[in-house]
Amino acid sequence: MTESKKVTLTTPEGFVASQLTDTIWSIDDGMVRCFLVVGSDAALLIDSGVTRGSALSHLVSSLTNKPVTLVFTHTDGDHTGGQEFFGTPLLHPAEYDYYVTIDHEMTKEHYISFVAYVGWDRVLLVKLYPEWKAEARFPRMQGRRILAYCNKHGLWEERS
Ligand SMILES: [Fe+2]
Repeated sequence: MTESKKVTLTTPEGFVASQLTDTIWSIDDGMVRCFLVVGSDAALLIDSGVTRGSALSHLVSSLTNKPVTLVFTHTDGDHTGGQEFFGTPLLHPAEYDYYVTIDHEMTKEHYISFVAYVGWDRVLLVKLYPEWKAEARFPRMQGRRILAYCNKHGLWEERS
């Protein structure tokens, strides 16, 4: 078996594709990396980076002529940009929703009144009531800030 020379490609859009093996590429978009695994009949793109899906799609097409399936490791916005260029992505069901729990009492006197999920272009709000659990479930969106409002202490950003 002969060792093949590994190739590195840099695109005008700032992608750096580094060949790790004969069939595996690491694609760095300047912030995060995604990976392309090329099989005999098909290829798997693992994550799609921050944005610039058109440029990523063009780069992937230059690396393989096999049909490409996109799979997400998770759904943070820096891993799912430009997904529309690759068809319906595969995703573990645990990644469908974002589940928030807040360590805070929920008595009639002192409770979390609402939890808000702030995405890049929308806000989802879940109203909570005393005696409920301080928890909420949101569909995943691009961008993520979680805000909570307590009837005594006001609004704050939840960091967990
Ligand atoms: Fe509070």
